[in-house]
Amino acid sequence: MQNHSIQVIGLQKSYKQHQVLKGVDFEVEKGSIFALLGSNGAGKTTVVRILTTLLKQDSGTATVNGFDVASKPDNVRQAISLTGQFAAVDEILTGRENLIMIARLRYLNNPRQVAEDLLKRFGLTDAADRRASTYSGGMRRRLDIALSLVGNPQIIFLDEPTTGLDPESRIEVWKIVKELAAGGTTIFLTTQYLEEAEQLADRIAILHEGRIIASGTLSELKKLFPQAKVEYVEKQPSLEEIFLAIVGKKEAM
Ligand SMILES: Nc1ncnc2c1ncn2[C@@H]1O[C@H](COP(=O)(O)OP(=O)(O)O)[C@@H](O)[C@H]1O
Ligand SMILES: [Mg+2]
Repeated sequence: MQNHSIQVIGLQKSYKQHQVLKGVDFEVEKGSIFALLGSNGAGKTTVVRILTTLLKQDSGTATVNGFDVASKPDNVRQAISLTGQFAAVDEILTGRENLIMIARLRYLNNPRQVAEDLLKRFGLTDAADRRASTYSGGMRRRLDIALSLVGNPQIIFLDEPTTGLDPESRIEVWKIVKELAAGGTTIFLTTQYLEEAEQLADRIAILHEGRIIASGTLSELKKLFPQAKVEYVEKQPSLEEIFLAIVGKKEAM
């Protein structure tokens, strides 16, 4: 019956007087890549923190892997992992030690083997025994994502996984995300980059002024774009144009 990994209905959240989420609704299908797109301060991290049980909503409901985040946080935590906007890597430890530490914390059977496999998968074998403080931004982010995969979570949350990365590292992260989804993992990612959503996501939801103002597949979103003038009929609108058109239309109302 459960075809959804995540279901969010009427989610609201304020920080003191500041209402950040004003009734957010969306669903994420199992095994898909879902992108929550929004500008800086739109409330993306707030949504992620609620879904990963780090923050309580004021009202509305959210279920993750079939469990209510507010009443069944332990069940939710067993199914998920979170890679935050700021790396969770311990700089003093080597890449290998970071992975072994998390594998131990998760009571996995063979922490060394788990670490070895992930180092290989993320192209970090050569750097495995160097302190993470010596890693480039791209390597650190790869290690960060590898850490979140320890224990094979069914759903992974990536909060702005490529912010601050150079273009090459960004493409590496995109490749990793696509491979994970191909392996059946559900991916919830947030991004400010329209191109990232366009590249990766099966479905995109645009969070703006506390609400989802548009959602769907890229081609569905493209249909929302106002009809191009005759002379531009051949031109496909970019997600950026769609975003601006929708936001502009909203604000004009
Ligand atoms: N703990 C907090 N206390 C007060 N305001 C906050 C807190 N966390 C976030 N905010 C505010 O809520 C808004 C949304 O923040 P956030 O969810 O981090 O947005 P995003 O991740 O989309 O950039 C911002 O205006 C931010 O300043
Ligand atoms: Mg954020």
